[in-house]
Amino acid sequence: MNKLRIHPNKIAGKINREIYGHFSEHLGRCIYGGIYVGEDSTIENVNGMRTDVINALKKINVPVLRWPGGCFADEYYWMDGIGPKEKRKKMINTHWGGVVEDNSFGTHEYFELCRQLGCSAYVNGNLGSGTVREMSEWVEYITFKGLSPMAQLREANGSEEAWDVKFWGVGNENWGCGGNMNPEYYANEYRRYQTYIRDYRNDGGIKKICCGPNADDYTWTRTVLDTCFRSSAPEHHGFMDGLSLHYYTVPGDGKEKGSAVFFNEKDWYRTLSKTLYMEELIERHGQIMDEYDPDKKIGLIIDEWGTWYDCEPGTNPGFLYQQNTMRDALVAGINLNLFNKHCDRVKMANLAQMVNVLQAVLLTEGERMIKTPTYHVFQMYKCHQGASLVESTLETSRIGLEEAFMVPNLTHSVSVDDIGQVHITITNLSADEASEIEAEIMEREVKEVKGELLAGDIHAKNTFEEPTNVQPVPIHNIILDNGAFKFTLPPCSVAHLVVK
Ligand code: AHR
Repeated sequence: MNKLRIHPNKIAGKINREIYGHFSEHLGRCIYGGIYVGEDSTIENVNGMRTDVINALKKINVPVLRWPGGCFADEYYWMDGIGPKEKRKKMINTHWGGVVEDNSFGTHEYFELCRQLGCSAYVNGNLGSGTVREMSEWVEYITFKGLSPMAQLREANGSEEAWDVKFWGVGNENWGCGGNMNPEYYANEYRRYQTYIRDYRNDGGIKKICCGPNADDYTWTRTVLDTCFRSSAPEHHGFMDGLSLHYYTVPGDGKEKGSAVFFNEKDWYRTLSKTLYMEELIERHGQIMDEYDPDKKIGLIIDEWGTWYDCEPGTNPGFLYQQNTMRDALVAGINLNLFNKHCDRVKMANLAQMVNVLQAVLLTEGERMIKTPTYHVFQMYKCHQGASLVESTLETSRIGLEEAFMVPNLTHSVSVDDIGQVHITITNLSADEASEIEAEIMEREVKEVKGELLAGDIHAKNTFEEPTNVQPVPIHNIILDNGAFKFTLPPCSVAHLVVK
């Protein structure tokens, strides 16, 4: 029996909605085919956006969408993606499969996508190969409401209204694909570029995200904070509002990343153990950030996370298309619990990527679309968006097959929403053992508990032939007992319980 104690009156922080954010890059079939099919497509669409995809995404309340990359961002010239489509320049997407990018999805289409999803915009600017002027003019084009060259160009291209952009990334992975810079060089470039991200609305402006470390590169974090964080500028916490962190869960070592669907129990625990490393990264980068920013005004922005396997056999290796199983559901549930628990510092996270790329929530094939196990986790966890994290403890035991890759049998997080309901999300990491849980809500009488469960064999997945193989079902075995309650989680499962 694992005991769960919840203190609904001890608020530990606010879970920013943006922790449930997504990422869509011009990569493979994420944008083209996955989201955008063009107005003339035979696939049902509104202004070129797939209706099935938009409807599915609306159900998980996408709060924010990062675009256009990724590595693509530092090669992207936004002016190539505006104006009449037939006149837009074509380019080679050198990072991702060497295919022709026809720029038919550009700034106007991105903001139409955000409008249809009802989400905030997070644009990633080009610092690696673009100029300060280009980035500055893009901000002007998007946000300026008065008379200016870029506002007039926007109007001429059909949008009289300016758009809101909440977050702006100043380069992507500039330690790698974004220019192979060292931290000192990037930090100075960052200071210069961010100067020209103007606050045209005079409303506190766009939140600026500085390129942060690759996984455990703590030197990068310290160096960019040394140069770019200034505690004395009250309006902008120095030069930045957020520092990004990228960390992918890769089960294999070296060249082989491992298959998305063919794996054994050792691979299962390796994957979950590697995903749990995220907590150490959050804590150690967080400690460095605390030295500069003890009031936690700047956010750790985990704007790329998720599983990365060898791509599906027979698909373009540059397209990063992979299947998604219950293992991915566990990876999602574990990470989202971690982000909730560290919501004092983690202000945004963006799963990589939204459709057809890496740990996607949706997969498409022609006009068909399926929801992955990861999608269902986002649906079950959306209750946490904007809620208050509350204190809780859960007894766990260590499980696994190899000493180096042991994991706790359970992870969890608990929040209280604005009508006082308690939401518990919990993952059972065991490949073959159920866990019994006895939960107690302190200083509250439990009247009603409902739950939904996502469970299956570790390899369980949805396919175009069997699209509903994995989907949430109600939990029927919740037993109310003297103010507390008990339930059993099957092996390899993710659950959401709501206590009224
Ligand atoms: O998400 C795929 C790629 O992973 C992104 O383009 C890049 O930022 C990261 O290396």
